[in-house]
Amino acid sequence: MAERVKIVEVGPRDGLQNEKQPVDVATKVALIERLVAAGVTHIEAASFVSPKWVPQMAGSAEVMAAVPRLPGVHYSALTPNLQGLEAALAAGCEEVAVFGAASEAFSQKNINCSIAESLERFRSVAEAALAAGVKLRGYVSCVLGCPYEGAVAPAQVARVAVQLREIGCHEISLGDTIGRGTPDATRRLLEACLRELPAGTLAGHFHDTYGMAVANVAASLDMGLRTFDSSVAGLGGCPYAAGASGNVATEDVVYLLQNMGYETGIELDALVEAGLFISQALGRAPQSRVSQALRAACAV
Ligand code: HMG
Ligand code: MG
Repeated sequence: MAERVKIVEVGPRDGLQNEKQPVDVATKVALIERLVAAGVTHIEAASFVSPKWVPQMAGSAEVMAAVPRLPGVHYSALTPNLQGLEAALAAGCEEVAVFGAASEAFSQKNINCSIAESLERFRSVAEAALAAGVKLRGYVSCVLGCPYEGAVAPAQVARVAVQLREIGCHEISLGDTIGRGTPDATRRLLEACLRELPAGTLAGHFHDTYGMAVANVAASLDMGLRTFDSSVAGLGGCPYAAGASGNVATEDVVYLLQNMGYETGIELDALVEAGLFISQALGRAPQSRVSQALRAACAV
């Protein structure tokens, strides 16, 4: 049987949080329904952050109330603090994510506190989440470069990842927030992290600003990672990282994995349709090369 790779679809959160035009709750739910129909099982659907900081995520409780609840389909949400966690629990989230950074400047810009302060804050979120029987995920942003500080040392990423693991994160997603990484840099990063943590606790979260994201996924697969975050149609970016483009497109990752013999459970044609749906709602073309190629092939 083919080895399974877990895809965490982050388009409804990481993608839509960065769209200039607001996307209404009904459209977000319709996107999630299409993703579920395509076989996506892990979806980051919401973010319980301050609506003053990220207004695009304001309808998160309504989204969570309306998403299809099916066996084997899991929804997660970002929770930067206890206020966010309480909202996520009330909305029926079964997994929440705290999000820190490997760079001090990014931590301040993104969540208004230092790395050390954030880890203290996350500790109380972790205790309350785990006590409520909710799974906890952790993010480290800026693992391959910071928009304010430039280079980020792999050892610093590993230190933050270890601390997230220690407070109870079952999975730590390593975010190339600004998409500057290359396969070599990805390997050096993972060498440092894998000295401290097993591959099964790490996820790759690549943005495609420089067109390197699929290559970075392939490098991470070589290093033993089997969980990747991606956004359908390549939606995404980061409001606190100027110029960062979207996450690697889920269509492109699924195509890569299928052709490498891995199982994802995702049906590519239906995924392309989901990407087209949200791209049409946003008035632009999907940022997925695989989507473009498959649709061009159908047109001839
Ligand atoms: P703060 O201003 O320091 O917070 O922001 P505060 O505790 O002083 O509260 C100030 C106000 O915010 C209060 O309201 C609180 O009630 C409210 P007021 O009294 O002024 O009316 N507030 C909240 N409201 C709703 N939900 C909450 C919440 N907490 C406080 N949870 C805070 C600190 C963390 C809240 C803020 O900085 C924030 O919301 N930041 C979120 C930024 C964000 O979402 N960034 C994008 C996600 S990270 C990312 O995309 C990267 C990632 O994808 C990885 C990668 O790509 O590499 C994960
Ligand atoms: Mg991201």
